[in-house]
Amino acid sequence: MSRQLDRVRYAADVETSVRHVLVVDADPTGVAYANTSLAGMEVEAVATPVAALERVVGSPFDVVLFDPSLGGDDDDALGLLHRLRTVAPDTVVVIWSEQPTVSFAVRAMRAGALDVLKKTAAGAEIRSVVDRAISHGALAREVRRLRGEVERARGLGEIVGESSLMRQLLAMIDRVAASDATVLIVGESGTGKELLARTIHRVGPRKDGPFVAFDCSALAPSLLEAELFGHEKGAFTGAGRARRGLFREANGGTIFLDEIGDIDASVQNKLLRVLQEREIKPVGGDRPVAIDVRVVAATNKDLKALVARGQFREDLYWRLAVVPIQVPPLRERKEDIPLLAAHILARRRGAAKSFAGSEARYPGQITAKALARLQQYRWPGNIRELENVLSRAAILCDGEMIRSHDLDMLGLDRPVGTAPAGGAEVDRVELPTIDLERLGDGEGLKDITDRAVRTVERAAIAAALRRERNPATAARRLGISRASIYTKMKAYGLGADGSPVE
Ligand SMILES: Nc1ncnc2c1ncn2[C@@H]1O[C@H](COP(=O)(O)OP(=O)(O)OP(=O)(O)O)[C@@H](O)[C@H]1O
Ligand SMILES: [Mg+2]
Repeated sequence: MSRQLDRVRYAADVETSVRHVLVVDADPTGVAYANTSLAGMEVEAVATPVAALERVVGSPFDVVLFDPSLGGDDDDALGLLHRLRTVAPDTVVVIWSEQPTVSFAVRAMRAGALDVLKKTAAGAEIRSVVDRAISHGALAREVRRLRGEVERARGLGEIVGESSLMRQLLAMIDRVAASDATVLIVGESGTGKELLARTIHRVGPRKDGPFVAFDCSALAPSLLEAELFGHEKGAFTGAGRARRGLFREANGGTIFLDEIGDIDASVQNKLLRVLQEREIKPVGGDRPVAIDVRVVAATNKDLKALVARGQFREDLYWRLAVVPIQVPPLRERKEDIPLLAAHILARRRGAAKSFAGSEARYPGQITAKALARLQQYRWPGNIRELENVLSRAAILCDGEMIRSHDLDMLGLDRPVGTAPAGGAEVDRVELPTIDLERLGDGEGLKDITDRAVRTVERAAIAAALRRERNPATAARRLGISRASIYTKMKAYGLGADGSPVE
């Protein structure tokens, strides 16, 4: 009996679905008036901007009534409004003000407020504005849900991003995937180049063919050629058996040539021929083999600069960059950080659960304050670095929620040098003080410059290791070979995580 009642009550709740409103107002009379005007809705109040930001994470409210006088001056208020909208993109904000000026109202609505209410408005008007805001929010959520569904159906769903830069990029990916054109993806380390390459393959006409990814910086030039184009039996010492090569393995599908800026002149020549003739010549063989492969290449280097310096063939550049795609660094689309953080945490949580059973405790949420801190950082290592930081924060954190203090130890507040594209600096480096008076006094110019170079080199390698926790990736980020990072780590006494070792 009571069970049945429960069910009835539950059904009724869903139908009328209690509305949740947050009133951000320091004045108790304002709060009380909102409460009476919105009878039947669940009204909660907070009196400070910080409390407001904490409460709205994850959009638990249908509508937020926001008194801008809390924020200080108009600009502060607009900044706060922007942050509310960022941490709770699904929440509709209505300005709730004693004396709203027209100019402020216009700016607030441009910044994403839906409407402006005067606190002295009649109760019925307040109610009708809030009702309208609720329907607007429901509609916006529905649009977002459908858009997500469309994108998942298209295969773009894994790529998170609502910023206008990301929207442009997704539109471009969608168009280019449908063609068979060669694509060159350019972007800093960790921006998602490989994810985009896979997506281009997966949503394009070759999706049922193979996708073969290869990091061109991983092999010495002599081996690279055989790896890509194959070789005949006995073509060189050690070539005991013939090899088909990655191009032939990718036949009918896509080959992803990562770090294309690292290939040397002889492989550049061969690759140019392959792109022109659509055939390969295995090492040691004389008969060309026709291939049908789409090429997607990626680099974090400035290929045009390499062309200008004569290190990369210009004609090859143009063959590759039929469609150039520039992936924006994370610091240029910080508004995507909340979504990305939520996506990364949800994915890790899912993985932790399936690994350790449903008992696994893994934080699934992050506070607004912590998010704000993530948004202030420059992210030289982009999304990969965001993933690393969140994983480490998750380990340090002891609840369901990552809080700002869980980020304390992760180096997000250290000053960040202005790294060039694809550059490596995380920290600032203090150069050794050089007393020019004493130049020539035991230390020659070469000793001094060597000392400066060693200081910079050691600091840059340590910083890259601290960030990546992996010498191979750190080497890639620094633009040096794996062999050389290991040699230098040894010389400078650095461990794999960048800390000093004996
Ligand atoms: N827009 C995005 N949405 C969700 N996850 C992303 C997005 N972009 C990148 N990632 C994730 O970030 C990580 C780094 O991406 P990826 O390996 O594609 O970058 P990359 O540019 O190839 O980096 P690197 O230069 O270090 O090789 C991956 O785990 C990827 O899934
Ligand atoms: Mg990559």
